Amino acid sequence: MPAIRVPKEKAEPVKRKLKKLNLYDGKRRPEREENHVLLPVLDDPIVKELGYEVLEVELPLRPERQIYKNLESVLAERLSEEELSYLRRYDVVGDIAIIQIPPELEHRIKDIIWGLRKVHPFLKVIAKKGFHEGAFRIRNYSIIWGEKRLTTVHKENGVRIKVDLSKAFFNPRMKGERYRLAQLVNDGEMVLIPFAGVLPYALVIARYKRVKITAVELNGDAYRLGLENIELNRKNLKGEIEFLHGDAFKVLPELPVFDRVISPTPRGVDALALALSRAEKWLHYYDFVHEDEIESFRRRILEECRRQGKDCEVKVKKVSDFKPHVFKVCADVKILK
Ligand SMILES: C[S@@+](CC[C@H](N)C(=O)[O-])C[C@H]1O[C@@H](n2cnc3c(N)ncnc32)[C@H](O)[C@@H]1O
Repeated sequence: MPAIRVPKEKAEPVKRKLKKLNLYDGKRRPEREENHVLLPVLDDPIVKELGYEVLEVELPLRPERQIYKNLESVLAERLSEEELSYLRRYDVVGDIAIIQIPPELEHRIKDIIWGLRKVHPFLKVIAKKGFHEGAFRIRNYSIIWGEKRLTTVHKENGVRIKVDLSKAFFNPRMKGERYRLAQLVNDGEMVLIPFAGVLPYALVIARYKRVKITAVELNGDAYRLGLENIELNRKNLKGEIEFLHGDAFKVLPELPVFDRVISPTPRGVDALALALSRAEKWLHYYDFVHEDEIESFRRRILEECRRQGKDCEVKVKKVSDFKPHVFKVCADVKILK
């Protein structure tokens, strides 16, 4: 992704200028070199006309951890150091907070509710997080405070996403990843997204790029929410989204090939051969992999490329931690021919 390289002493004024021009990419962090600074910029042709040195580099995404720190410092008033150490990361989806409460903190639920409401006064629901279940990857939740609902509208990357956490999968932690992909996609591409859920990837990409997206989802509730989400964002979308209701394993073989396929694969499902078979230039394939098996995962993908007569380059990127030593990863597969 692009960055501008400027001498250290010019970094601040150039950053201000880029912000004024809406070209500064605040989602990524600048990086210091000895006498220079790399400033993250948006993938926009105007950047090249500004007269600075433009590079393609991977700058780190900004961590979204600050809000967790805030809860910790608010709760420090009421909880002991030991109790604070059991506090888990939590998510805010629209006006719903979702928190995992370990047995060691069950007796502190009231304080945790108090702390969450103090940090996020706009909250209307606080729910305790259970596990993902079944092929549709829906979690169990129990509401511990507020209105008795799990529907809300979540704002992310310039789009509004209606979700119903009791009926369809949604993970707000993939915000940075969706943004990364939206930056990689080029105007004019045909993009296929199987396992599309309520359409978070499709909406974010279509928000920024003039593309034609075909998305496929089997869960009827997620499909209906996805259709609502297209309407909710219609005025702000540059790209078009066609949403198909059905089983990706039956629908994809009937579709043509696409420039890019993005497969947010449900855990435990092997859709590699299927997704690769529809990709002409790029495949982004998500899976859950033990850190010791990342290289064998990469080789498995290269093997599938060979089997399908495709010459590929594969880079595997850790996207988030899933459980100790196991990561959600994305294989970025470039198909050379
Ligand atoms: C890990 S979730 C990802 C959803 C969405 N892309 C997101 O990031 O929020 C996987 C999705 O695949 C859907 N799904 C599971 N099996 C499917 C199948 N055979 N065909 C199409 N969709 C399927 C589930 O209902 C779920 O919405």
